[in-house]
Amino acid sequence: MKNNIIREIHFFITDIKGKVITLAYRYIKICFISLCVSFFAIQSIHAQSNSALPHFKKQGTATQLIVHGKPLLMLGGELGNSSASDLKYMAPIWQKLKAMHLNTILMPIYWELIEPQEGKYDFKLVDSLIYLARKNDLKIVVLWFASWKNSMSCYAPYWVKIKQKRFPRSRTKDGKAVEILTPFSDENRNADAKAFASLMKHLHIIDGKQNTIVMIQVENEIGMIPDARDYCIEAEEAFTREVPSELMTYLHKNKESLTEELRQAWNNAGMKTSGTWEEVFGKGLHTDEIFMAWYFAKYTDYIAEAGKKEYILPMYVNAALIRPNYKPGQYPSAGPLPHLMDVWRAGAPQIDFLAPNIYFKNFSEWLGKYNRAGNPIFIPEISRLQSVTNAFFAVAHHNSMGYSPFSIENAGNPESNQFNKGYNVLHQLTPLILDHQGKGNMAGFLLDSAAQTAQITLGEYTFNVKHEYTWPYAARAEGETPRFGGMIIKITEDEFYIAGSGVVITFQSSSDDGTIVGIANIDGGTFAKGKWIAGRRLNGDEDHQGRHMHLSGREYGIQKVKLYKYK
Ligand code: DGJ
Repeated sequence: MKNNIIREIHFFITDIKGKVITLAYRYIKICFISLCVSFFAIQSIHAQSNSALPHFKKQGTATQLIVHGKPLLMLGGELGNSSASDLKYMAPIWQKLKAMHLNTILMPIYWELIEPQEGKYDFKLVDSLIYLARKNDLKIVVLWFASWKNSMSCYAPYWVKIKQKRFPRSRTKDGKAVEILTPFSDENRNADAKAFASLMKHLHIIDGKQNTIVMIQVENEIGMIPDARDYCIEAEEAFTREVPSELMTYLHKNKESLTEELRQAWNNAGMKTSGTWEEVFGKGLHTDEIFMAWYFAKYTDYIAEAGKKEYILPMYVNAALIRPNYKPGQYPSAGPLPHLMDVWRAGAPQIDFLAPNIYFKNFSEWLGKYNRAGNPIFIPEISRLQSVTNAFFAVAHHNSMGYSPFSIENAGNPESNQFNKGYNVLHQLTPLILDHQGKGNMAGFLLDSAAQTAQITLGEYTFNVKHEYTWPYAARAEGETPRFGGMIIKITEDEFYIAGSGVVITFQSSSDDGTIVGIANIDGGTFAKGKWIAGRRLNGDEDHQGRHMHLSGREYGIQKVKLYKYK
């Protein structure tokens, strides 16, 4: 009996000892893991302060995105909205992206998925996506789908959606709530900013060194519908207040360079130095839109600032453009549109640039509107149905940092489609393009049925560029006249690389002293790792016996052209 009791006590002590040892072991393990994470975090933070993070750098008139000390030309594509929410769905996509020669994907990160419960973050999906992008040699532009996605708040977490008292909605003119978080609520703004800051903190820890993520889009297509402005109580109250002095100071300081529309509104109302929105800009939808743009900008700026405090990456906002004859509210009012560029700049200094989502055919016109007052150019979205020729024009003529067709994973025949062919050529030309951006010795051109010719002068030569279909012998595709175009890069006074598709170019002297320009020779070819590898000599039928150079509309190509002069 006594022995039994002693044995029981012994077992009990051994059991306790075992439990204590297990607990101690667990404790040591947790400490070790935390130490490792902190070590890597510190390393990463150290990396941020020591080596340059992705940032912008001016080269002449161009702004380039620098990653790991080198400029990056983003041959990109944006994923359809839902693809990145499911790793299994993404599995076959990576290979497709590689096949089309993409080096960057624009990929949403969804507020509702990273913060399913308030204050409880889950970055597992984000981490896996980054890992997979790295494995496939792709850079990422993160799209922060949070307070607003195409005007709406569909990606706000459930706990935000259901607490409308705490997270108030915008209201229409007749007082109806809509599924749009109002920008007039600090609670809305702070909740978004808190989640965004947590995301950026996490990205800093896991990517501060590798820089797979090169840029951030804050929200997506911000804009008010179906009215030009919000009519919730807080908005109504703000509308009767004076225009904030911050905006008034900006207007005065930048009086000479304001966008025409803003300057005119201010001018027509008497160029007042203070007053309510309607006193300063007059009554009308245009003032509703300016007012709304200011509050959207302030809200977005707060979020961007909270994120940059954790991790400084370039940040931009994108806009849904205006359909012809649509009024503010019919189109998403007050977004980062060109006519509101000054309001956005004044209200959101943390946002580095404004970008267009181009789903209309007048590509060149919209790019021209965004390429003003030092606003860097990047096209985060364009219809996949538009010709990739646009990309040649954008990077050469507007020094675009990149190009990105929407829903790229749904492009058919990735081994042979237009992105495969066009991006292949752009990929080859990338070092040359990056070297020439902003220096005045590269030009782009776009041709279609509306504009069939272009004239470009680079140094001593003038290039008369024509749509291929203006040449009687050209092969024609059925249907609408396709968009063709490309770029010319001057490498010496007499030598040029001309790349693109569907153009016929003749040459003349830039001076009218009777000098005639001849083609010394034209070579087809390719670039491999930045080195030109000449292919066929094209001095016979292909250059029409020395009369012109020709890039067929059936493919994307590069030719090296050497010119000479005679009298
Ligand atoms: C523009 C938006 O920014 C995208 O997220 C997507 O909704 C497309 N429109 C659909 O065409």
